[in-house]
Amino acid sequence: MNSVVIRSALPGDEAAWRQLWKGYCGFYKTAIPDEVTTRTWSRILDPDSAVLCMVAEVDGQVYGFANCVVHENTWEALPVCYLEDLYVLPSARGRGIAAALLEWLRNAMRAEGWGRVYWMTQQGNDAARRLYDRFTKPDDFVRYVLRPR
Ligand SMILES: CC(C)(COP(=O)(O)OP(=O)(O)OC[C@H]1O[C@@H](n2cnc3c(N)ncnc32)[C@H](O)[C@@H]1OP(=O)(O)O)[C@@H](O)C(=O)NCCC(=O)NCCS
Repeated sequence: MNSVVIRSALPGDEAAWRQLWKGYCGFYKTAIPDEVTTRTWSRILDPDSAVLCMVAEVDGQVYGFANCVVHENTWEALPVCYLEDLYVLPSARGRGIAAALLEWLRNAMRAEGWGRVYWMTQQGNDAARRLYDRFTKPDDFVRYVLRPR
């Protein structure tokens, strides 16, 4: 595979991003309402929004994305970057595309002055964890979620 280009998502990426997003939601067996997907995409394109999306392109085709939210935090003065969604087209996996997205985020952290990039994954997501373990060690926090109903 030729080299992977990581760049911010652009309006012309909408169809490719939506296709990948569908695959990502399928991976998590979740049905995100269309209006939420549309809102997420518009937040990605909005320069005033805290939502970022980096796409991974090879030979002009988009094969993966990383959706992030940059936010303030109470433990340090610097903003931090939450990597919320990471996805690579199944036929393009195992070729370093997700690693390139993570490497891009590591460099952006240094360039932008983020205090950290953090993310979570399911205990049993072995493919993802093998990759993540190359970047850093997991900590021992456990996630609790409270919902309105
Ligand atoms: C996790 C995911 C983003 C990794 O993307 P990727 O581009 O295949 O990642 P990389 O090629 O950079 O690294 C993949 C690692 O997965 C493993 N891998 C190798 N071939 C693979 C394949 N065909 N399919 C899946 N994983 C493979 C390898 O362990 C590889 O690490 P290695 O190079 O040290 O052997 C991708 O599998 C994916 O989209 N999965 C479904 C969604 C998901 O789990 N997202 C993360 C949620 S937190």
